[in-house]
Amino acid sequence: MMFLFVDKRRAEEVRKALLEKRMVDNTYTLIKEGQGEVGFPLKRIGRGEADDLMKKYNGRIKNLGEGLAVKRKKSELPRSLKELSSRYIKKSLSTYETIGGIAIVELPEGITKEEEHAIGNALLKMNRNIKGVYAKAGKYEGIFRTRKLRLIAGTDNKETIHRENNVLLKLNVEEVYFSPRLASERKRIFSLVRPEERVLVMFSGCGPYVFEIAKNTEASSVAGIEINPVAHRYALENMKLNHAYNVELYGGDVRDVIPVLKQGSYSFDRIVMPLPKGADDFLDVAFEVAKEGACIHMYDFLREEDIPDAAEDKVKNACLRQGWKPEILRTVKCGQYGPHIYRTCTDFRVSR
Ligand SMILES: C[S@@+](CC[C@H](N)C(=O)[O-])C[C@H]1O[C@@H](n2cnc3c(N)ncnc32)[C@H](O)[C@@H]1O
Repeated sequence: MMFLFVDKRRAEEVRKALLEKRMVDNTYTLIKEGQGEVGFPLKRIGRGEADDLMKKYNGRIKNLGEGLAVKRKKSELPRSLKELSSRYIKKSLSTYETIGGIAIVELPEGITKEEEHAIGNALLKMNRNIKGVYAKAGKYEGIFRTRKLRLIAGTDNKETIHRENNVLLKLNVEEVYFSPRLASERKRIFSLVRPEERVLVMFSGCGPYVFEIAKNTEASSVAGIEINPVAHRYALENMKLNHAYNVELYGGDVRDVIPVLKQGSYSFDRIVMPLPKGADDFLDVAFEVAKEGACIHMYDFLREEDIPDAAEDKVKNACLRQGWKPEILRTVKCGQYGPHIYRTCTDFRVSR
């Protein structure tokens, strides 16, 4: 087994260069030698390359033989995706999300199938709860805001049960929109709910807002409306899973369902609108079932320089058109969507 020994003061520089050239054999551990030297295990390289390395880093190459070179132990698995990716591929992956027993990674372009499997398998080993690792294979798209995924390791089963804020959510991660990154925003919303409120969640998906409000507050009832039939079916299952019986779920377009609710004299103290692309287009329907003094939470995607004015202007204009008076309470950032683009939520009250 060939090792490149260099002065330990140059170890970081050499480590980066060897990783970049994919010359390190990660199945062996580094060796620290007496006089401040570090030895890097090398993949098979030619004599010319070995000479170049010695010259460039003022090092020496030593063949230690299988007995002296130490195989990396299983417990030395990488502890983070950052560490993992810098070990297996050149580009660094800083984060991955887990939904129940599924991990979802965003892979940089140009990585090989081998590297993909290495990342997927290492993630399975790092977290025993993960049964399948998927790579994002598309952006959120369409009315249902779903995205394509591609299995890179483990078992191919896109259905899972996720736990968040005292609630269980069963869903198929490809057919239903769900982001675990919104857990603290959902907590912010349910912390605002007062006893006996009637709450409506438009665009309710598989029910995260609905069930977290139902289970963590003293709301008298929570209604959800969702157009994606698969998401709606999971929401119905989640109602049973969470024994949430102060909940009413409607499958369909909010534009069709809300007039029916209005006919049945339904009205709400609080309306949540978690559809960041275009929620303002539905403010007119929300007003149809808003009680006097109702609180509305409208989500949006905004460029940093447009926060809060762009969202608050949409609210003020919609209120003006429909004859309501808005009282803007706050606009909060609740996640980053892209460079300098944020998911925001504007909380406001409406009165006649
Ligand atoms: C960004 S997702 C949010 C889902 C869920 N509230 C959550 O936080 O996970 C928006 C949801 O709105 C649904 N949707 C889009 N347009 C709709 C409409 N006109 N009526 C009802 N639901 C709609 C989509 O199918 C999608 O599930």
